[in-house]
Amino acid sequence: MHLDIVILAAGKGSRMRSQRPKVLQQLAGKPLLQHVIDSAACLENSHLHIVYGHGAAEVQNAITAPVNWCLQAEQLGTGHAVQQAMPSMADDGITIILYGDVPLVSSATMQQLIENAQQQRLALLTICLDNPRGYGRIVREQGNIVAIVEEKDASAQQQQIQETNTGIMAVETALLKQLLPQLSNQNAQGEYYLTDIIALAVAAGVNIASVDIEDEVEVQGVNDKQQLAKLERAYQQRQAEQLMQQGATVIDPSRLDIRGEIRVAQDVTIDANVILQGEVELGSDVVISANCIIGSPNKKTVIGAGTQILPNSIVEEGQIGESCQVGPFARIRPGTVLANGAKVGNFVETKKASIGAGSKVNHLSYIGDSTIGEQVNIGAGTITCNYDGVNKHQTVIDDHAFIGSNTALVAPVQIGETATVAAGSTITKDVAAEELALARGKQKNLSGWVRPKKKS
Ligand code: UD1
Ligand code: CA
Repeated sequence: MHLDIVILAAGKGSRMRSQRPKVLQQLAGKPLLQHVIDSAACLENSHLHIVYGHGAAEVQNAITAPVNWCLQAEQLGTGHAVQQAMPSMADDGITIILYGDVPLVSSATMQQLIENAQQQRLALLTICLDNPRGYGRIVREQGNIVAIVEEKDASAQQQQIQETNTGIMAVETALLKQLLPQLSNQNAQGEYYLTDIIALAVAAGVNIASVDIEDEVEVQGVNDKQQLAKLERAYQQRQAEQLMQQGATVIDPSRLDIRGEIRVAQDVTIDANVILQGEVELGSDVVISANCIIGSPNKKTVIGAGTQILPNSIVEEGQIGESCQVGPFARIRPGTVLANGAKVGNFVETKKASIGAGSKVNHLSYIGDSTIGEQVNIGAGTITCNYDGVNKHQTVIDDHAFIGSNTALVAPVQIGETATVAAGSTITKDVAAEELALARGKQKNLSGWVRPKKKS
C-alpha cells in the first residue's frame, strides 16, 4: 500500500512570542517538527510532505530529512493546508495527516489509524477530555460520527461534548482528493476547515472510524511556552522510565534530562540534575554523579563499564574507557580518549588528548593536543602550551613518565619513557627516556638578611 504523510507546519504560533517558527521550538533539544518526522519515518512505503509557510527558509534549513516541501503562502485553514500537498499525493493508497506542533504522537498510533482507514476509508484519532475547551467536538448520531464542529461554531449543547478531535486522521487518498475541493470557508473563522470533510464523507456514504486514544501526552499540541515546558517534563518522565526499565537506577526521575539517544547497560546509576545529550552510551556499573552534563548535540559519547563521573563534570564528547574516574569538576572536551583506568581529576580540562591506561591527571591541568602513554603521572598545575598564537602543536609523553607539579610543556615537545620533569619547569626541548629535566630558576638562600621594619 502507498502511504502519503502530510505534516501541517505552516502556522506562525504567535502565542510563543518568539522570532523562531513554532515548529522549530525545541522539545528535548530537538525541533517539534523533527519529532514528528522521526516517528513518521518508522512507517513503511511512505512519502513525506510538509506544508510550510511561516519562517519558510528557517524551517527548510532546520530540516535535513528528504521531504516534499509544499508551500502554503497564506494560512487559510487546515483544509487549505492539506490541499497544498494534493498535487504531489498519489492517486491511490492512504494519506495520514499530522501536525508539526503535536510532537509526541507515536508511530504505533499512526499505524493503528492507517489500518482503520484501510478498512473504513476515513479514521479519526479522538480523545475524551474532562475539559475539551478549544478543541473541535465529535458529533455522533445513533453512535455514528456525523461531523466535527469547531468550538467557535458549536452550539451551547455541542460545547458539552467531551469527545474531541485531535486533528490527526488517516483517509483514503482518493476520497480526500474528492472531498477537499468541496470545502467552504463559511464559518466563524472564515477558514477552510479540514474537519468539514467528515460531514462531506458521511454525505457520500462513508462510515467514519475512530481510534480513541487514552494517552493525552501523545496528542498534546504546543501553542505557548507553558505547554512546551509541560510537555517537556512529560517527555522526560517517560525517558527516565525507559532507562529504569532497562535497569538504570535514576535517583530522581524529575531531575534528569535526556536530549538525544541514550543506551545503558545494566546497573548504571544516575544521580540528580544530570543532562545527557546527543548519542550517549553508558557501560555497566557506570556512575554519573550529581550535576553532570554528558555529551553534546549530534555527537557521540561512550563511557566504559565501571567508570565514575564525579559531580559537576562536563563531558562534551569523548571516548572514556572502563574503570576510569573523571572529576569532580572536570571538563572533557572533544577529541578526548581515556584508556582503561585513567584518572582525570578536579579542575582539569582536556581537548584532543589521548590519555593512556592507568595514567593520572589529578588536579588543575590543561591537557590539549596531547598523546600521553600508560602509567604516566601528571602533577598538579601542569599545562600543555599547545598554541603559539597561530598554530597548535603536539605534546607527546611516553609511558611511565613523571611530570612534576606546575610544569609548562611548550609544544611541540616530547617527554621520553620513564623520564622525569622537575616541578616548576618550563620545558621547551625534548627530554629523552629516563632523563631528568630541570628547567627552573636556581634557588638562592641569603643569610644575614634583615627584614624591613615599619617606620614609627
Ligand atoms: C484544529 C482542528 C480541531 C482540533 C484541533 C486539535 C481544524 C479546523 N480544527 O484546530 O478540530 O480539535 O486542531 O489540536 O482543523 N495550519 C497550517 N495552515 C493553516 C492553518 C493551520 O499549516 O492554514 C497548521 C497549524 O500550523 C497547526 C495545525 O495546522 O500546526 C492546526 O491549526 P490550528 O489553527 O492550530 O487548529 P486548531 O484551531 O487548533
Ligand atoms: Ca485555528
